[in-house]
Amino acid sequence: MGLRERMKIGKKGREESEAPGQPSSQETAQSPPKSPLFAARKDEPRDELRDLKEHLHRQLVERIDYSVWESLEAGDLRDQVTRVVEALLVEQGVQLTEFDRRKLIEEIRNETLGLGPIEQFLHDPMVADILVNGHGQVYIERYGKLELTNARFRDDSHLMQVIDRIVSRVGRRVDESSPMVDARLPDGSRVNAIIPPLAIDGPVLSIRRFGVRQLFMNDLIRLNSITAEMAEFIRGAVKAKLNVLISGGTGSGKTTLLNILSGYIPPEERIVTIEDAAELQLQQPHVVRLETRPPNIEGSGEVTQRDLVRNALRMRPDRIVVGEVRGDEVMDMFQAMNTGHEGSLTTIHANSPRDALARLETLMLLTGYSLPEKGMREMMSSALDLVVQVSRMSDGTRKIVSLSEVTGMEGEVVSTQEIFVFERTGVSESGEVLGRFRPTGVSPGFLNRLVLAGVNLPQGIFSSL
Ligand SMILES: Nc1ncnc2c1ncn2[C@@H]1O[C@H](COP(=O)(O)OP(=O)(O)O)[C@@H](O)[C@H]1O
Ligand SMILES: [Mg+2]
Repeated sequence: MGLRERMKIGKKGREESEAPGQPSSQETAQSPPKSPLFAARKDEPRDELRDLKEHLHRQLVERIDYSVWESLEAGDLRDQVTRVVEALLVEQGVQLTEFDRRKLIEEIRNETLGLGPIEQFLHDPMVADILVNGHGQVYIERYGKLELTNARFRDDSHLMQVIDRIVSRVGRRVDESSPMVDARLPDGSRVNAIIPPLAIDGPVLSIRRFGVRQLFMNDLIRLNSITAEMAEFIRGAVKAKLNVLISGGTGSGKTTLLNILSGYIPPEERIVTIEDAAELQLQQPHVVRLETRPPNIEGSGEVTQRDLVRNALRMRPDRIVVGEVRGDEVMDMFQAMNTGHEGSLTTIHANSPRDALARLETLMLLTGYSLPEKGMREMMSSALDLVVQVSRMSDGTRKIVSLSEVTGMEGEVVSTQEIFVFERTGVSESGEVLGRFRPTGVSPGFLNRLVLAGVNLPQGIFSSL
């Protein structure tokens, strides 16, 4: 097959990077080592095991009957690989601990059926992106940060095999005549591959994951995105049915936070969610999910967020959760919030609480309702209780930079007061954003509503001392 020939690109003298004095894979293959192989460091197979794995993998490939292979289901393929590897181990008298044996089989299966060294990351629900820069460098993004991993491919042709396996599944191929390819993994993840000579230092594979696990509030606390006290405060606000607006830029973590806050809605309440593209993953038993529909080719049949908000009001919701306000649904939403549908949650694309209010006002004006400006602001100020501002910091971390109460009107303008802020003090040498979260010392005017709803906040939570 043409694969091997095509693989030869981009491999240049990286062999020296291998530690000296190790037996070549050829030698070890002849005399398979004995267990236990995972003495000290977990997850870092000793080289003997790696060599054994490569040896078995080669033999496995020789034994596979490719004529039946194509027609097998994924599960059967896995079983078949397992059986062949087990048979090979027995034939060659290799003794392994149960742990090593399973790990070896798993790795060979990944090698044969999956994406080899990077397959493990596809099983880690926290990994958002997998970025391979030539065979020797694999980065992943987790919690919004890039990390260099220990994973590596044997050489560039090994990486090319994996790329080939991905793109051939969607009927594409990558070679010198088509050196840039887009594809998708079966789980929906988006893949791009670009190879030499366009990519100068070897094949580059970029995988953007789809359906990564949602973060929970504990994750956010651990990631220093918010303090435990602030989290308690927000949780109380949701429980007490305050209307909460989450504001932030693209990728700042609005949807993540909306999902977490929605999780605080008591399980006995009926929740209706409205989104342009369903992303929320609520765990409550009583959730109705609605999604908009774009117009068809003839330009008809569109169902907007506004249509859905209006419809939701006739569905006896206890709570309405709108993925993101962006259009004329804003009026209906505020009306609902002002007329007994408290505890609604939504997000908006804005860079500060002030900016968020300004954007909402613009959206209201664009609806064409003939309401005076002041009337609009009054409507907005009485609808909203709390604005949560999230921000993606220069070091890639996300922080809840402000929790602000909407207190009412002062003359012509909507008035707000900050209850918690993130005070940025600088940047460390490594680029990490420095600062601290602190209460401003102001107690929220809606504290009484929290108390009435049975929310117990820690003593002194609002004290700035
Ligand atoms: N507090 C956080 N810390 C680190 N990563 C986060 C945090 N919140 C969200 N993320 C990650 O940031 C990315 C964008 O989050 P998302 O909620 O979709 O943002 P938005 O809705 O504002 O565009 C996701 O990969 C998500 O897992
Ligand atoms: Mg979002």
